[in-house]
Amino acid sequence: MAGDHVFLKACRREPTEYTPVWIMRQAGRYMEEYRDIRRKVAFLELCKSPDLAAEVTLLPVRKLGVDAAIIFGDILLPLEGMGIELEFAQGGKPLIRNPIKGRKDIEQLRPIEPDEHVPFLLRAIEIVRRELKGKIPLIGFSGAPFTLASYVIEGGHSRDYSKTKKFMLESPPLWRLLMEKLTEVTIRYLMAQVDRGAQVLQLFDSWVGCLSPWDYEAHVLPHSKRVIQEVREHAPLIHFSVGTSGFLHLIKEAGGDVIGIDWRTDLGDTWERLGYDVGIQGNLDPSVLLAPCEVIETHIRKILESAGNRPGHVFNLGHGVLPQTPVENAIFMVETVHRLSKR
Ligand code: CP3
Repeated sequence: MAGDHVFLKACRREPTEYTPVWIMRQAGRYMEEYRDIRRKVAFLELCKSPDLAAEVTLLPVRKLGVDAAIIFGDILLPLEGMGIELEFAQGGKPLIRNPIKGRKDIEQLRPIEPDEHVPFLLRAIEIVRRELKGKIPLIGFSGAPFTLASYVIEGGHSRDYSKTKKFMLESPPLWRLLMEKLTEVTIRYLMAQVDRGAQVLQLFDSWVGCLSPWDYEAHVLPHSKRVIQEVREHAPLIHFSVGTSGFLHLIKEAGGDVIGIDWRTDLGDTWERLGYDVGIQGNLDPSVLLAPCEVIETHIRKILESAGNRPGHVFNLGHGVLPQTPVENAIFMVETVHRLSKR
């Protein structure tokens, strides 16, 4: 029964026989099988082919023995339905051809109808659920409104997010309008995934760590909070961000059953600071998986000791797995977390 699975129990902060583990970006370029598929199929096409996306979702499940699957897709997929023209250049870097420049662009953004705009993702969820046969739970995901806003304004990845911040600080009412539209889309996107079978959700606010605590609180928190309030009663939610150790209490205030953290703080200290009324996910530095196994084991041991066998810890990297990671090291990580955390 997936309902009794260690990963779901940890999300509910119930005691488990061992610490569950999965890896952010566990289906990706560090796997030979993935690279083989990508030689034949472009990234967006792969996302839009339900059978292939399901196959890719299941690759790490079979190869690594992780405790959760995450549906293969991308945080940027729902933007197309809003009228954003999305492209993944050579090397997989996202590029938006019609970035948001002002009020008119925002007013033209449409809310999405998931059945119409992301049917491929919903279909892939059904296939994966059927294939998993309840063995492990399936995670659905979305970008958080701020991280999505940063892409539609910058047009891609950014070093300093200066366009996004200028927009936010120069015209709070326009910013609010954009964030409200992205919030609505995020809610619809996540709810549709739950309706089709996603059992846990992860909200990625990958780039919000570029903000000050004050700007997060004033311009972002209310929107993330709304998303989480709407979806959380339907599935447990992991609220993940990077570089936010200075305002993790605000990330917690925005909500989530589990707070996903990066590797820049000690997990145990952070958990104590946040309070044990919330779960915690993390937080191995992805670069550690490039090191020899003894080094990986030492780092895993430190994190597990720091978590102190407290119910509610989900082991993960502090951010996505690096493409140059040897797959054997990812396998070793999963095995080692299971072995060292056995109660
Ligand atoms: O975790 C998984 O295995 C599920 C799949 C998944 C992808 N993207 C596949 C992908 C997930 C959960 C994401 C989330 C995502 N996408 C985030 C949040 C996570 C994070 O890392 O903070 C962000 C910011 C994006 C946007 C995005 N998509 C970027 C920045 C890139 C290029 C980065 C890179 O890895 O080079 C993508 C492309 C992308 N999304 C790839 C994959 C496997 C690589 C595309 C390829 O095959 O060439």
